[in-house]
Amino acid sequence: MSEADLIDADGEPPAILLTGVGKRYDIVSCFAALARTVAADPSPLAPALYAAHVRLAPPPIADPAYVPFLEELCERERVGAILPLTDLDIELLALAREQRGLPSLVPSSEVARATYDKYEAHLLLTRLGLPSPPTVLPAADLSALHYPVMVKPRRGSGARSIHLARTRAEAEFFVSYIEEPVMVQRAMQGPELSIDCLGDMDGRCLNAIPRTMLESRGGESIKGCVIDDRELIELGARVMDSLRVRGPATIQVFRDPELGLAITDVNTRFGGAFPGPAYATDPGMSYPELIVQMAAGEPIEPHVGRFTPGHPFTRYYWQLELDEQMRPTGREIVPGDPPERR
Ligand SMILES: Nc1ncnc2c1ncn2[C@@H]1O[C@H](COP(=O)(O)OP(=O)(O)O)[C@@H](O)[C@H]1O
Ligand SMILES: [Mg+2]
Repeated sequence: MSEADLIDADGEPPAILLTGVGKRYDIVSCFAALARTVAADPSPLAPALYAAHVRLAPPPIADPAYVPFLEELCERERVGAILPLTDLDIELLALAREQRGLPSLVPSSEVARATYDKYEAHLLLTRLGLPSPPTVLPAADLSALHYPVMVKPRRGSGARSIHLARTRAEAEFFVSYIEEPVMVQRAMQGPELSIDCLGDMDGRCLNAIPRTMLESRGGESIKGCVIDDRELIELGARVMDSLRVRGPATIQVFRDPELGLAITDVNTRFGGAFPGPAYATDPGMSYPELIVQMAAGEPIEPHVGRFTPGHPFTRYYWQLELDEQMRPTGREIVPGDPPERR
């Protein structure tokens, strides 16, 4: 498609499709302020559906009708970019891009598959010369490990079923206790940090913005602060360029006093702390703004390290009331701004 094909007669930018939107009201509403936004989630009680222009329930991801449904939707709504907000359909969207030309903003299916499986991710990072903590499968000699270790699901998310084991006996117990394939990884010491990155359509890193992870709940970062840490910016850009990540990614690391920086999780989608980079980027350079431009076929110059650090953010819950037909009533439990801003 040429650039001219992407902008329609009214000069409207292409629509953005977000899948598995769940509770990510912040992400959906940022896109909806910039472009026509379509939100997909099977649950009518997924709050973020109600931040979009169009909301719909797709077939289950495992259903062969899932990709044809999205394909038809992309044509009808003139979608210029599809962004998954969970891990569940990243690989499928990558395949849909490779085989059917859907505009999924995700890395290659190979990278999507490897980063969904934390053991495969460890092997891939190591092969590329990127730092990953010592990690083995449970069949390895567990007496040879440096303890403590973390026993964690290979395909975990939201910090589900992750256990610290101080001895080989504890590690063996958790390996048999967790009812899914697991791996055993050195328990990292020191602070846990994240780097929120964006890659362009060719998998070139556009920006990498590090932040502290002061508190997480259910796998989502709820308190943090963007920091100016050159080592993390450089590592984030190196991971993005090596994996050729198209679209957003969050890279989690620990700075271990003994091992230095090591990567414990790579999520090739927007992560929990979306507001971190949203506050820190220069005007006009937020990740949603750049994505809307890329969806319209505009090239973006890499500007790795351009952001303003230093402002902490803290997140909280809010809610919507729906009527009997599941339409938002627009009622707030408290109208207006808090006292300080009235
Ligand atoms: N090797 C490790 N050492 C110490 N803590 C870890 C390690 N791996 C994971 N954790 C802790 O568990 C949390 C969730 O693990 P993570 O690998 O990010 O999986 P996911 O977010 O996909 O559930 C991390 O944020 C971190 O606090
Ligand atoms: Mg994680």
